[in-house]
Amino acid sequence: MESTPGILYKGYNYFHEQFQKQETDLLKVRLFLKKALVMRGEEAAEIFYDDSRFSREGATPKRFKKTLLGKGGVQGLDGDEHVHRKRMFMQEMNPDSLARLEEFFEAHLQKAISSWEKQPEITFFDEIEEVLFRAACDWVGVPVKEDEVEQRKNELSELIDGAGRVGPGHYKARRARKSSEKWIMKLVRQKRKQKINASGSSILSRFSFHRNLQNKLLDRRIVAVEILNLLRPIVAISRYITFSALALHENPQYRERLRKDTSKLDLYFVQEVRRFYPFFPFVPAKVNKEFEWKGVKFPKGRRVLLDLYATQHHEKIWSNPNVFYAERFSTWNGSAFNFIPQGGGDHVHNHRCAGEWITIKLTRIALNNLVEKMSYHIPEQDLKIELSNIPAIPKSRLKMTNIERTLSGI
Ligand code: HEM
Repeated sequence: MESTPGILYKGYNYFHEQFQKQETDLLKVRLFLKKALVMRGEEAAEIFYDDSRFSREGATPKRFKKTLLGKGGVQGLDGDEHVHRKRMFMQEMNPDSLARLEEFFEAHLQKAISSWEKQPEITFFDEIEEVLFRAACDWVGVPVKEDEVEQRKNELSELIDGAGRVGPGHYKARRARKSSEKWIMKLVRQKRKQKINASGSSILSRFSFHRNLQNKLLDRRIVAVEILNLLRPIVAISRYITFSALALHENPQYRERLRKDTSKLDLYFVQEVRRFYPFFPFVPAKVNKEFEWKGVKFPKGRRVLLDLYATQHHEKIWSNPNVFYAERFSTWNGSAFNFIPQGGGDHVHNHRCAGEWITIKLTRIALNNLVEKMSYHIPEQDLKIELSNIPAIPKSRLKMTNIERTLSGI
């Protein structure tokens, strides 16, 4: 039976429920009218990240390339070409560079809190998106005029939001992709003509002058896709930050404990946010060498999905998976395959998310601000997270009122 309508209708739960019902880690399905396999769990992830069995070229359906990811980016590369391009990203994840991003984020967040204090009500998710967008542009070295901020930020948000939609929502995301790429391509051209100062000192500049394995500059469109592979997911951290505020609201016992904590409870809290709340549902690959797992043949060319959400809620990995319990991470074994909200395996050689440290760090900074540096009220509103909507967010996008900087935030 074709699964695509089921995913659109049931979202994150579609395969998760089938895994549970059939007590299996492997499902035979049809996706986009073709046979496919869906896997969950630690053993499945270990197999999925074995590059000798799987390839990424052509694995992502076109509709996601036209919206979320773009064409020609690191996600669809294999082997040496992938490792070489991935290095371009990983070189930016050094401690000095990350510290700069953290400073930009903290500075924009403080400015935002000052402005929130003056407003009767804010929509936290939208506000945090803007804070992250500004910090991301500063970090990457993308100049953005004040009157451009809203449009550019909304377009990046659209790439994430519209990726899982059909009809008008999908076409809006396609337009946002075209417009965003055009915006960055123009900057790359200027960079290459040295019209923007500080050549070599920004990420935009380093990506613009990156050379592939054939020692050639990348096509301008591909540089734009890769720059957007930094800006877009940094804006997307707004979801984990909003989920953190929601988790604090729904589990108020943590607020006081986080204030008093001198160990790593804030880290465990953020890890639990990444485990508990739904975000990236699955990652795709194609079999490049036939093999068998659990008595099922994986023929060459077959599309396979690794279900991240179902792995984060797998009852054999996580006890009481539907309970938010940050302390579970104090005894987590650190496996690269059982906790995979941003992919698994190795960051340098596999397709695991290049921005995992950034995500954890910025979410921790935001959590610290929510707990220590500001007071606020969460009024009555619809905070329900519809699991049928990919990507998920509380319906009201989290309204806050009575925001004040606390003494420790001054
Ligand atoms: C890849 C999730 C934040 C950059 C991925 C993958 C997932 C993911 C699931 C694919 C893993 C795979 O294909 O096996 C997330 C989530 C984030 C996030 C949920 C939270 C907001 C970031 C950030 C950055 C980033 C902040 C960079 C600033 C990338 C890149 C890849 C990637 C470049 C491609 C890696 C490759 O193909 O080798 N991410 N990510 N992500 N992510 Fe993230």
